[in-house]
This record gives sequence, C-alpha cells and structure tokens, in this order.
Amino acid sequence: MQDKIYFIELNEDKKYEDYKQYHSLLPLEKQQKIHKFRYDIDKKLSLIADLFIRFLICQNLKLNNKEITFEKNPFGKPYLLGNPEFHFNISHTRNAIAIGISGNPIGVDIEKIKCADLKIAKRFFSSNELEYILTNKEDSFFYEIWTKKEAYIKWDGRGLSIPLDSFDVTGGPIDKMLRMVTIHGYIISVCSRQDFNGAWCMELAEDSVPVCLQKIL
Ligand SMILES: CC(C)(COP(=O)(O)OP(=O)(O)OC[C@H]1O[C@@H](n2cnc3c(N)ncnc32)[C@H](O)[C@@H]1OP(=O)(O)O)[C@@H](O)C(=O)NCCC(=O)NCCS
Repeated sequence: MQDKIYFIELNEDKKYEDYKQYHSLLPLEKQQKIHKFRYDIDKKLSLIADLFIRFLICQNLKLNNKEITFEKNPFGKPYLLGNPEFHFNISHTRNAIAIGISGNPIGVDIEKIKCADLKIAKRFFSSNELEYILTNKEDSFFYEIWTKKEAYIKWDGRGLSIPLDSFDVTGGPIDKMLRMVTIHGYIISVCSRQDFNGAWCMELAEDSVPVCLQKIL
C-alpha cells in the first residue's frame, strides 16, 4: 500500500444535513458522539473525517464498511482492528481535515496559520523551539513547531501524556521523522519513522467526498 496524505478543505455552502444519508455508515456510538457537538461545523468535520477514513480503508484493503472496527490505544489513538499493517491518523481544524494512511505508524496534525501565540510557545515549546520562532518572526514558524510537536505525539500515540516541552522538533532524530507542507493557508505536519513511500498530500475538494462515499454505501 502506498502512503498518502489527504487534505480536504470544507465548502461552507455544504451543510451537515447534506450528509444525512451517510450517517448509517458509522456505528451508533460514533453517530451519537458527533450529534452532541454544539456547532454544525464540528459535526461536519468529525463526520467527514470518519467517513473518509472508512472509504480509504475499504478502497485500500478491499474491505466492506461493515467489516471495519476501530479500537483505541489507552491514550485514545484509534487503530483498525485486525489489520496491524494498516496505520492512519486524522487531524481536523476549522474548515479542513488532514488524513494520513501508511504501512507504518503515522501522526498527522493540521492547523490554520493565524497569529502566533507567544504565551503558548513560552509555556509548551522547548528552548530551541522558542528561539526558532523568535528568530524567524513570521506566524507560520510558530505553526510549524506546533504541528510538528502534535504530529510527533500523535505518531507516538501517547498524545499529551508526553510533556510538550520534553522534546525538540528543530533538530536531531525527531526532526528526521517529520515532514511539513503548507497548503491554502494551512500547515500539515506528518511524523513517521520510515521514509514516506508514496504520494505527498493529495488535495480534495469537499464536493468529491460524496462521490467517494457513494462507493461504500
Ligand atoms: C488529542 C490530541 C492527540 C490531538 O488533539 P487535537 O490537536 O486537538 O486534534 P486533532 O484534530 O489534530 O486530532 C484529533 C484526532 O486524533 C486522533 N487521536 C486521538 N488521540 C490520539 C492519540 N493519543 N494519538 C494519536 N492520535 C490520536 C483521533 O482520531 C482524533 O479524532 P477524533 O477526536 O475525531 O476522534 C492531543 O494531542 C491534544 O489534545 N492536543 C492539543 C494540545 C495543544 O493545545 N497543543 C498546543 C501546543 S503544541
């Protein structure tokens, strides 16, 4: 299987309700979780990400959607039950989703580039990382460090139980596992121990999502 990163930017004209026919592709528990989000945009982000990873699994592993069961590690990282050779990771931020699939453990994080928040940097970044963003003053450098740190802890799978200031993404062995792309004002960072063997960042319009989902209905 080829490693791939997918970037989906949501189209504000498409409503959460437009996906009603696809809800039943998800287990009831997941449908209820999504339903509880206060804002439709969060419902839509979570719904599309969950449906699209199911489509990717069906397509790559020749499975039927009903055969897909996700479990979570003790820190909440989801994995596909019964297919230890298939790895994925999902990230969403307002209006965009990034999904990575790979034959090796993977961590993905996406953020929209906004104003850098030095309070966050001082609190969570290592001293080298802080120096990096203070030297390179553009906001994107802050989001580069942020997404790389998140991609690393998501690759590891222990999430925030790893103290964020306990490792450095500006050099050394961790930096070698990281890749980054900037796309339409978003930064996506990906962490993987192996060389990434495949397509680097496939961009999809939201309009093509239902076309994909039709195939797993
Ligand atoms: C939960 C966490 C793993 C990612 O959270 P996040 O960045 O808010 O959210 P993302 O959209 O990137 O990722 C969420 C997805 O990651 C996956 N995930 C959850 N726990 C995970 C873990 N331990 N490891 C890897 N992936 C995990 C799930 O698929 C989840 O999607 P879901 O919520 O729809 O089930 C955690 O790192 C976190 O809370 N981070 C925010 C910390 C922060 O404020 N950092 C700023 C300074 S660097």
